[in-house]
Amino acid sequence: MNSLKPNQVLVRTLYLSCDPYSRMRLSESQGGFVASFVPGEPIDSFGVGIVEASTSTKFSEGDLVTGGSFLWETRFILSENDITKVPSDTGISPANYLGVLGMPSFTAYVGFVSICHHKAGETILVSAASGAVGQMVVQLAKARGLRVIGAAGSDDKVEFVKGLGADDVFNYKTCGSLQETVKKAAPQGIDIYFDNVGGEFLDAALENMRMNGRIVACGKVSQYNATPETVYHTKNMDIVDINNITIYDFFILDHYSRPVYKAFIDEVSASFKKGDIQYKLDEIVGLENAPQALLDLFEGKNFGKRVVKVSDL
Ligand SMILES: NC(=O)c1ccc[n+]([C@@H]2O[C@H](COP(=O)([O-])OP(=O)(O)OC[C@H]3O[C@@H](n4cnc5c(N)ncnc54)[C@H](OP(=O)(O)O)[C@@H]3O)[C@@H](O)[C@H]2O)c1
Repeated sequence: MNSLKPNQVLVRTLYLSCDPYSRMRLSESQGGFVASFVPGEPIDSFGVGIVEASTSTKFSEGDLVTGGSFLWETRFILSENDITKVPSDTGISPANYLGVLGMPSFTAYVGFVSICHHKAGETILVSAASGAVGQMVVQLAKARGLRVIGAAGSDDKVEFVKGLGADDVFNYKTCGSLQETVKKAAPQGIDIYFDNVGGEFLDAALENMRMNGRIVACGKVSQYNATPETVYHTKNMDIVDINNITIYDFFILDHYSRPVYKAFIDEVSASFKKGDIQYKLDEIVGLENAPQALLDLFEGKNFGKRVVKVSDL
């Protein structure tokens, strides 16, 4: 308590989040939207924890809190401005404030519900469909009457995405030609492509886009480990002009202060409590395992939203 300055809290970490954007922060700054990690300083990410001491009037000992600047440590000090309280009486587990009610799920909500002008009856293709963002896009799209095609990197993941209600799901690693597989799944073409992976998959999707289609450029996880020698240069961008495709790029942190955040929390927490939405967490135990837990994302070794459990509630 003595080491706390005014308006600070001492937090004990319960769960840390592993997210693909951290890979970009492991590179030297390229002027991107989040600062690079500083060698010798702790990594930070989204997390959930318990307040153990506070000099803030907003937080008390025992409060459950979340934020995007949790240090990868068992205990750390943050400013009161870096955390928000998590309601502890909702029946939703703390880890799910990184999952179904966390940043990736909100990303799915903004990208699909708020940005891409979906209509019932349209066809949407979702890559990395079993992941933290993808599993939520699949369910939101089904609930709004779209035909959903998912892609995932193992047969187990394919079965899981089918279980979420997707109409057609394929294993993109074993399907053969990506372009032909998408065409077979959507003979009339794709209205919306929710792009989590970029690279070759984006080219295959572009080949199958309908006139006036839309692409939600959520992320390009297939390229985050690429070097100048291995980076995949998209070949089919001329289809954007030819088929009048709109590409929506967005950065989720820009949307927390918009009304869509409350709409997300209200809709998704209600649907989750009713059992209308499922959400798969993939929990690794132990802070010492956090670095590998993060690296696993780029080899598809996570199955669902990857979190690291650091301590018990
Ligand atoms: N725009 C934003 O503000 C924002 C916010 C959050 C996330 N994102 C982006 O959303 C995307 C999904 O993030 P997430 O948190 O949901 O991750 P995730 O899907 O839970 O985990 C990453 C998954 O990507 C797939 N993958 C890994 N390497 C791949 C490769 N070379 N080619 C194709 N797929 C590969 C793997 O699934 P398979 O086994 O199925 O291959 C892996 O499980 C990422 O691109 C991320 O950067 C963007």
